[in-house]
Amino acid sequence: MYRGEKVLLRAYKSDDTEKAYEYVNDAELMRYLSPNVAFPMTYKEEKEWVEAQGQNKDGTYNFAIEDLESGRYIGGCGINEVNWLTRVVTVGIMIGDKDYWGRGYGTDTMNTLIKFIFSNMNVNKIKLYTFSFNERAQRCYEKCGFKVEGILKEEVFKDGQYYDEVIMSIFKNQWDQGDI
Ligand SMILES: CC(C)(COP(=O)(O)OP(=O)(O)OC[C@H]1O[C@@H](n2cnc3c(N)ncnc32)[C@H](O)[C@@H]1OP(=O)(O)O)[C@@H](O)C(=O)NCCC(=O)NCCS
Repeated sequence: MYRGEKVLLRAYKSDDTEKAYEYVNDAELMRYLSPNVAFPMTYKEEKEWVEAQGQNKDGTYNFAIEDLESGRYIGGCGINEVNWLTRVVTVGIMIGDKDYWGRGYGTDTMNTLIKFIFSNMNVNKIKLYTFSFNERAQRCYEKCGFKVEGILKEEVFKDGQYYDEVIMSIFKNQWDQGDI
């Protein structure tokens, strides 16, 4: 469907369930994603989640990320929230296969998602939330043109301590002008 330089953003398939189940139960991965406690998911729950994808609800949508070279399903990204009054969307991303971390796949995925949203959805701003300790994610988003917009102090509790949550955003006019 939507093609970047390294990835394809496509609909979920039932074949993705096995890997999706593995990713969602990986504690190291979930530390970056779950705001609080990441409880384990059952195979049945994950299967139902995969099967429920593909339903576009008011503009929200989850894409599976496929590595163009190997054809492997390596993670997911999506439009989690849309405010059609203010034209602001919230996005999220997860490269579930750790062999793919730090190799430019997140940046290519996010650039492809940004292009899809600004080219097709008539949106003014894309925002996302990330944890203060997730420096790899922040660097990835900066490379795509996101800037820090705000900090929610001590919003997250992990491993016995509080962390801030960082809000980052990118505006359509900056993206249009390449001013990022
Ligand atoms: C966050 C994530 C999407 C980034 O994708 P990625 O493919 O790993 O990132 P990229 O390789 O495109 O870019 C990462 C950048 O951060 C840098 N980086 C890597 N580890 C870092 C660290 N510990 N501290 C600072 N920078 C780091 C890389 O060098 C690279 O920058 P560079 O190109 O200037 O050298 C991916 O790692 C991921 O899904 N992680 C687990 C789940 C997660 O954190 N999701 C995001 C929740 S907000």
